[in-house]
Amino acid sequence: MTPTAAAAPRPIPRDPQADSSLALLADPYRFISSRCREHGSDVFETRLLLRPTLCLTGPEAARLFYDDERFARAGAAPEALRATLFGEGGVQGLDGERHRHRKALFLRLTAPEAVDALARTVRQAWRQAATRWPAGEPVTLYDAAREVFTRAVCSWAGVPLPEAEVRLRTRQLSLLFDGAGVLGLQHLRARRARRATDGWAQDLITAVRGQAGTAPQATALALIAHHRDADGELLPAAVASVELLNLLRPTVAVAVYAVLAAHALHQHPGQREALLAASPEDAPMALACFVHEVRRYYPFFPAVAARTRRAFRWNGYDFPAGRRVLLDLYGTNHDARAWQTPGAFRPERFRPERRAVERPGSERTGPPEQRPFSFVPQGGGEPARHHRCPGEGLAEQLMKQTLQFLLHELHYSLPPQDLSIDMSRLPALPRDRLVLVPQAAVLR
Ligand code: HEM
Repeated sequence: MTPTAAAAPRPIPRDPQADSSLALLADPYRFISSRCREHGSDVFETRLLLRPTLCLTGPEAARLFYDDERFARAGAAPEALRATLFGEGGVQGLDGERHRHRKALFLRLTAPEAVDALARTVRQAWRQAATRWPAGEPVTLYDAAREVFTRAVCSWAGVPLPEAEVRLRTRQLSLLFDGAGVLGLQHLRARRARRATDGWAQDLITAVRGQAGTAPQATALALIAHHRDADGELLPAAVASVELLNLLRPTVAVAVYAVLAAHALHQHPGQREALLAASPEDAPMALACFVHEVRRYYPFFPAVAARTRRAFRWNGYDFPAGRRVLLDLYGTNHDARAWQTPGAFRPERFRPERRAVERPGSERTGPPEQRPFSFVPQGGGEPARHHRCPGEGLAEQLMKQTLQFLLHELHYSLPPQDLSIDMSRLPALPRDRLVLVPQAAVLR
């Protein structure tokens, strides 16, 4: 028998523009999926920040993207994000054993008991915040949530936060994620905030290391300060401070999801009623499904970046070695191949599968664990092995505490305002950031 010749590769569709960076910034959440639709392909090539970049969308492409034999993270993130959002030397840019070892630190920091303790602190912080709100005066939920989460995460992590510094640290930690992905003045502010918070966190690490007899496991700050890397050495103080900020910054960023969850409560009154009417047995499941659907339905991070380790062929397309690759998170969360009516807000899709009551053609239901490459608001795959976010449980708990507070404790109304979501903003938010007016009694 003569060996069959290998099939010829399919050409990867290519954007005609010299550079698509401005188009990406103009519509960051839909840029990849809409161009993929135009090209009729899950992959296309474009130039971003003057570098050739392959863009991927969909569950099949997500499975490929998390194959760490083919993709690496070192050097993948653009400088603009390393100088703001990520910092230098943190877990995001590590590969292989070094990554797994550092990641274990984050999985310890976000273990369920630790997250429960933070959730209790957050609930308390919401109550305290409400006592400071004058009844009848408007409160911007985005601002309130960022401050509540800053207070709570610092107290929980063992980070001293004098009252006089609360506004400053809230502002600085917020700028790291709310200003990182844009151009202009706000981006320059984010760079300045990175320098300031790096210095602050480094002082905290150095101070904890200098305290004789501190139990290393006592607080998240101490755990990070005393963490030994894969080589058995303490992390350089500059790197430990980046990892401390990798815990504080995204916890404050959950304020975005808190606002979006409140937005969903308002936009879907039937869902709000269902949460209020749920039986004690069903209430935890109903709340969990609502929170999953908020994370699937609303945008947050548009995409994640890696680069190819070596040349390979996938689905007939030849990927060259060393090429930057972006995986579309928002588009994958809305991919009709994985989600029925992806544009509808339907928390029920996350209920455990009940085959007996399913109608033919209805959506396969099930929790996020059964969808590691189609439910990707915080990355795909497994947190311990891949770069998937270690903070999903933490984000969910903080969202649940906020929802419980809004549903069961706070009397409030929404004044007329612009509730439309600004999809050109990073992260996307309601245009007025969700303003509410606490009623006379404030707390029920
Ligand atoms: C606010 C909601 C959050 C969103 C939307 C979010 C989203 C993400 C995304 C998209 C990634 C990248 C996944 C990848 O590269 O494949 C990531 C990674 C990461 N997240 Fe989150 N995250 C959130 C909250 C948190 C929280 C609360 C923490 C606190 C522990 C956290 C810590 C991290 C860390 C340390 C990484 C890097 C993981 C690695 O490279 O292995 N995130 N997150």
